[in-house]
Amino acid sequence: MSFPETRPRRLRRSSSLRRMVRETTLSANTFMAPLFVAPGNTPRLEISSLPGQFHFSVAEVAREASELFELGVPSVILFGLPEKKDEVGSEAWHNDGVVQRAIRGIKRTVPEMTVAVDTCFCEYTTHGHCGIVVDGRVDNDATLENLGRLALSYARAGADLIAPSGMMDGAVGFIRESLDEEDLDEVGILAYAAKYASAYYGPFRVAVDSTPAFGDRQGYQMDPANLREAVREVAADIEEGADIVMVKPALAYLDVVAEIRREFDLPVAAYNVSGEYAMLKAGAERGWLDHDRVMLENLLAMRRAGADIILTYHAKEAARLLAKRA
Ligand code: PBG
Ligand code: ZN
Repeated sequence: MSFPETRPRRLRRSSSLRRMVRETTLSANTFMAPLFVAPGNTPRLEISSLPGQFHFSVAEVAREASELFELGVPSVILFGLPEKKDEVGSEAWHNDGVVQRAIRGIKRTVPEMTVAVDTCFCEYTTHGHCGIVVDGRVDNDATLENLGRLALSYARAGADLIAPSGMMDGAVGFIRESLDEEDLDEVGILAYAAKYASAYYGPFRVAVDSTPAFGDRQGYQMDPANLREAVREVAADIEEGADIVMVKPALAYLDVVAEIRREFDLPVAAYNVSGEYAMLKAGAERGWLDHDRVMLENLLAMRRAGADIILTYHAKEAARLLAKRA
């Protein structure tokens, strides 16, 4: 059958018809909100490169998490800023570091909220790389030892999900073993499995001052040209014990999200990164884009591509908007 018997427009005639045949929906349940925790007592300080995002104090981040939870967002992912950076980023695994205190605070305030923690060193090192630098390169295996330490420290503070983001080979397996040896077998791993060496992380690096002092991250993050390699990376992380696998960034990599969704049956997360967020904020500020409509369209596209979980700086505003529309 074809035109004129077939008329696809019949099912687009009214809002109720469109709702009936809608294939993909958005819900706050899908969102994981990234939150930045900084030392000191200033409750919140807006991040210049990420309008609407803040450096929170330990006390304030718990209030923010609680507000998100009320809006229906079930999870957050924490990023920390150290008091002082050093060569290896040792402040990251201090028991009383800002992230460890934030985890405890959030768990005290909203015990039901899922707390994931970005587990990497670039915010904590003077050189801004994601691990231990030896002869100008990030040493994979030496970094694993420190990642194990870091994961244990976050898990002991009460984190639900450890999220290694440094693209070190074997990180997921090493962390899984470290956790299991300490009877922390209920703590899960959200693997940044296919993380590309992307220019879209620019605003985030301004936010946490983690632009590499020399070189770049192409020696450990993936080449944006590669799709089959993403399938291998994800397969390896699942083999090593990942509970959730992530593709990052999202928008320019929706083909990767779709491929990973097709190939594997674990939950798939997509990271709607800082550059994607900042581009929309800038376009909307100039009056060139309808902010809310583009935001929902982008988030819906990530869902349509197959993301079960979306890490997004829009979590709060999108959850609010969805609540209003419901
Ligand atoms: C740390 C990390 C980065 C992001 C998440 N974890 C930055 C990077 O790899 O340089 C990027 C997040 C964003 O851009 O929103 N490894
Ligand atoms: Zn890093």
